[in-house]
Amino acid sequence: MTALNNYLEEHKERFLQELLEMLRIPSVSADPAFANDVRRNAEYLSQKLISAGADNVEVFETKGHPIVYGDKIINPELPTVLVYGHYDVQPPDPLDLWDSPPFEPVIKKTELHPDGAIFARGACDDKGQMYMHVKAFEAMLNTDGLSCNVKFMIEGEEEVGSENLGVFCKEYAEKLACDVVLLSDTSILANDVPSITTGLRGLSYIEVEVTGPNKDLHSGVFGGAVGNPVNVLCEMIAKLKNDDKSIAIPGFYDDVVVVSEAEREEMNKAPFDMAAYKKFLNIDEVEGEQGYTTLERTSIRPTLDVNGIWGGYIGEGAKTVLPSKAFAKISMRLVPNQDPDKITQLFQDYFESIAPDSVNVVVHPHHGGMPAVTPTDTPEYEAAKKAMALTFGKDPIPVRSGGSIPIVSLFEEVFGVKSVLLGFGLNSDDIHSPNEHYGLFNFYRGIETIPHFYKFYSELKNPS
Ligand code: BES
Ligand code: MN
Ligand code: MN
Repeated sequence: MTALNNYLEEHKERFLQELLEMLRIPSVSADPAFANDVRRNAEYLSQKLISAGADNVEVFETKGHPIVYGDKIINPELPTVLVYGHYDVQPPDPLDLWDSPPFEPVIKKTELHPDGAIFARGACDDKGQMYMHVKAFEAMLNTDGLSCNVKFMIEGEEEVGSENLGVFCKEYAEKLACDVVLLSDTSILANDVPSITTGLRGLSYIEVEVTGPNKDLHSGVFGGAVGNPVNVLCEMIAKLKNDDKSIAIPGFYDDVVVVSEAEREEMNKAPFDMAAYKKFLNIDEVEGEQGYTTLERTSIRPTLDVNGIWGGYIGEGAKTVLPSKAFAKISMRLVPNQDPDKITQLFQDYFESIAPDSVNVVVHPHHGGMPAVTPTDTPEYEAAKKAMALTFGKDPIPVRSGGSIPIVSLFEEVFGVKSVLLGFGLNSDDIHSPNEHYGLFNFYRGIETIPHFYKFYSELKNPS
């Protein structure tokens, strides 16, 4: 594919500048204050799809943020690839922990990215990875041409649960008909250890509100005699886990698919450097469910984490107060075949059952998501494997990821197709954290790999 490589070489600087331009748009989906910027990002992306050569480009309104669509149907006989991605980003907070402003991208070298990395919110998750597909598409159109039909569907609500995309997929199932969904929103093990994600965890996300007395009280006058909701919430949270770090909610593990010893042995062959892992996080020891390795704890096992907790006085100095209320946001990552709604109900029942009479507890469920697993014995997996093998010079390793992309299971349900999780980020790219970044190596390697996927996929689907 030399024509293609020449094209990429010739236009790589422009590709980067276009991405940087998009990274300057603060498309934070969770915060209504950014709604206009989210829309601006959708418009920008639709323009870029048009200039890349896509037909039927449209910005679809939803009850929330818009969905960007575009396609190129070259021959209805050929297989159709539906490219999915998201242009929305997580809130950049806490701002003071960023070394440079989150929406003013800069390129800096790091230990793991000696060729430089783009630092900005969304650089890796998912603007940088999504945009690789737009540029690979442009490069194919301008050189060897397409070997498959392509449809783009890029949403602005992935980071808030993709609820409206689910509605859109059902409504436009015919328009979106495809043979496979292709997305880059996951990681590889390292820049010299390619991997393909074969599983995603599901999610149940809950907010709890604990109310004690009807107002904040003097902690000397009333302390010791009245239930303190912050104390009580901490005690209740402590009861969510057993001493062996397993989850104490009755019935929680009932539907968990037990992974065979053989498969566990296989997955633990993936390179993992515990010393480097601890050093990266500046921790002396890891922690997790007894009997499982770190790789297993972050892939095939469910978890429970407090994502945020607040209540009482958190300003400067000391204020003596017994607060009226305490809150926490709690998430559970789920594995096949756990059902998010059922898990949410189990959580609620248990949480209410351990609440002492001195407080009142309200459980508010947030969005959830189904886990997903992708088989490795399909033409699409084989095509992704061959494409990566070509550009990385070695076979990718199948790896189940700890993250969630809830819409992936819906693609299977609505379109009846599997997804290929052809991600190029690194787990150390600080997505959702301050100083999120994406390697230039990863950006360009992705653009180079994607056209090979199309070629191998059309060959494997239509052996002639
Ligand atoms: N791209 C991530 C998911 C991800 C990251 C998968 C790294 C595998 C490796 C996605 O944007 C994300 O952050 N998903 C959320 C779920 C969503 C419902 C908010 C998540 O996993 O927390
Ligand atoms: Mn993402
Ligand atoms: Mn994300």
